[in-house]
Amino acid sequence: MYDAKYIIPGLIVFVALMTFPIWKNMGNAGPVPKPEKPVGVTKCIDSVKYMRTSHMKVLDDWRDEVLREGDRVPIEVNGVKYDKSLMNGCLKCHADKKKFCDECHVYTSVKPYCWDCHFVPKETF
Ligand code: HEC
Ligand code: HEC
Ligand code: HEC
Repeated sequence: MYDAKYIIPGLIVFVALMTFPIWKNMGNAGPVPKPEKPVGVTKCIDSVKYMRTSHMKVLDDWRDEVLREGDRVPIEVNGVKYDKSLMNGCLKCHADKKKFCDECHVYTSVKPYCWDCHFVPKETF
């Protein structure tokens, strides 16, 4: 009744077509992001390793300290003071949000909602 001669090759072609988008990109997740290093500074507020994995926690902590505890005492990196702030902290050094923050976020499909309210420095528009 069922003709295996046609059904099996038919199934193979079907599976191959359905999974084409997956194996087409095998071993290729697109170009790895290369966030641009800031100019004129050599150090972040913490180790690069920590920043890569935990920068969102730093930002949350800063926000809580500033807004809930009223603690606006600036942080110091290499003797220079920076506000605990997106715009006047992180983006003082990482001046180009597009070439830095977005470089990773677009790649990983992360969309922080911070920019709904917080300004981005002008030169990045
Ligand atoms: C004093 C300037 C300065 C400030 C302020 C600063 N950064 Fe950095 N940041 C750097 C530098 C310089 C590097 C690269 C260090 C290196 O490669 O050794 C870096 C590295 C990083 C990295 C790792 C990038 C990579 O290549 O993987 C992340 C993520 C990061 N910063 C996020 C932030 C965030 C978020 C803030 C604010 C909470 C912030 N930085 C504040 C200077 C700064
Ligand atoms: C080295 C790559 C990289 C760089 C550079 C980077 N981020 Fe991220 N960021 C990530 C990744 C990956 C996540 C998601 C982590 C997760 O979901 O656990 C993330 C998450 C976040 C979050 C939390 C968003 C959410 O919806 O949970 C914030 C806020 C954030 N980043 C801010 C920044 C800011 C501001 C900068 C630039 C100053 C920056 N990031 C630069 C990789 C990066
Ligand atoms: C609904 C609007 C809104 C959104 C969305 C928002 N913020 Fe804010 N944020 C504010 C306001 C208002 C202040 C108070 C500014 C002040 O008093 O200095 C603030 C202050 C902060 C501060 C302390 C100092 C400063 O002025 O930067 C940090 C750090 C901060 N926010 C981080 C974040 C991060 C990280 C995100 C995204 C995960 C975010 N905010 C999303 C409205 C917002």
